[in-house]
Amino acid sequence: MANDTILVTGGAGFIGSNFILEWLAHEPSSIINLDKLTYAGNPGNLAAIHSDRRYKFLQGDICDRDVIAELLVTYRPRAIVHFAAESHVDRSIRGPDDFIQTNVNGTFSLLEEARTYWSGLDDAEKSDFRFLQVSTDEVYGSLAPEDEAFTETTRYAPNSPYSASKAAADHLARAYFHTYQLPVVTTNCSNNYGPFQFPEKLIPLAILHATGGKAIPVYGDGQNVRDWLFVGDHCEALRLVLARGTTGETYNIGGKNQMTNLEVVRAICAVLDELRPDDPVVPHASLIKFVVDRPGHDRRYAMDIAKIEKELGWRPRETFSSGIRKTVRWYLENQAWIQAVNNGSYRQWMAAQYSM
Ligand code: NAD
Ligand code: DAU
Repeated sequence: MANDTILVTGGAGFIGSNFILEWLAHEPSSIINLDKLTYAGNPGNLAAIHSDRRYKFLQGDICDRDVIAELLVTYRPRAIVHFAAESHVDRSIRGPDDFIQTNVNGTFSLLEEARTYWSGLDDAEKSDFRFLQVSTDEVYGSLAPEDEAFTETTRYAPNSPYSASKAAADHLARAYFHTYQLPVVTTNCSNNYGPFQFPEKLIPLAILHATGGKAIPVYGDGQNVRDWLFVGDHCEALRLVLARGTTGETYNIGGKNQMTNLEVVRAICAVLDELRPDDPVVPHASLIKFVVDRPGHDRRYAMDIAKIEKELGWRPRETFSSGIRKTVRWYLENQAWIQAVNNGSYRQWMAAQYSM
């Protein structure tokens, strides 16, 4: 018998760990977390639940089909929520191999093993089962300033090795629904921010550099636009899609909050001016430094979220101003977490990427 357990992949990363913490706070059922623990995976994110009997962590690679097959047979989950990925665009530009391996081959392995497992379930369990493919708005490509926001029918046009690998994974997931009727639902979400985000991404990097009196690198002219969503809102949307989303469908998730990178960094600096007036360099915005642009840098993303609003009644709860304040406070209050991620491999990445 399949039971109420769900399998999460990549649950030691930024969004996955927020999702697991929120799941256990809101839902009665158990979670198995399969994570390879790459540089981006941090079991410390889940320290608060390590003695919760509903939570089990397994270190493993989604490319390893034997591991997945055994896990599915042993734990008989009723759903797979698939976060595991290489997720940083700049790393995909410097070295795409891992992105193809994990995001494409890994998703394929997971889909194949899910199909085998699902085929052996009885009819009721089969129809209850879900494979939730957690994807990104970046698969839709780049918008000009006057373009309408992406909808679920916008044609895929990925521009970076990262977004191309996520697009390939989404196409595989779609094909498994179409060909085998595996109950897949896909979500495409905009830029997340919040606690536990690895400081290679713009928002945590800006917070850490600003508080440390280091230059805050802004690519190009700083006018690229992203649609920022607080991670807790994304996690809530995923729980809703898992519970009530229609199989074979995709759902856009976004913050209705388009901002230029310069606006984002200035907002962070303004919060820090208030909370940390004694930092080494104040005003913090004087640390903003324009640096060489990301190759192929997408100019603008924006999400039309009318479908999920109408069908599932979801909308973001946080405004950017409330979410960024919570986020800045979290980084200020979690120095031990920052010390732990600020290791040799992080410093090597920063040196290679920014020559800092
Ligand atoms: P992250 O980089 O913080 O975490 C990824 C996690 O996956 C890590 O714990 C890592 O150890 C694990 N992992 C990597 N390769 C693995 C493998 N081969 N096998 C098992 N585990 C592996 O990423 P994130 O920002 O939390 O993103 C999670 C998912 O959400 C990704 O699929 C990403 O494409 C998608 N997404 C992210 C955002 C965002 O703004 N961060 C927005 C939309 C969608
Ligand atoms: O849109 C969803 C995507 O958001 C996710 O699919 C990705 O996994 C996630 O990493 C994120 O991608 P971005 O490339 O948009 O995020 P990042 O934080 O790397 O960059 C945000 C913007 O800030 C982008 O326009 C590039 C710019 N930037 C980034 C860094 C790291 C800078 O100007 N300076 C920087 O140092």
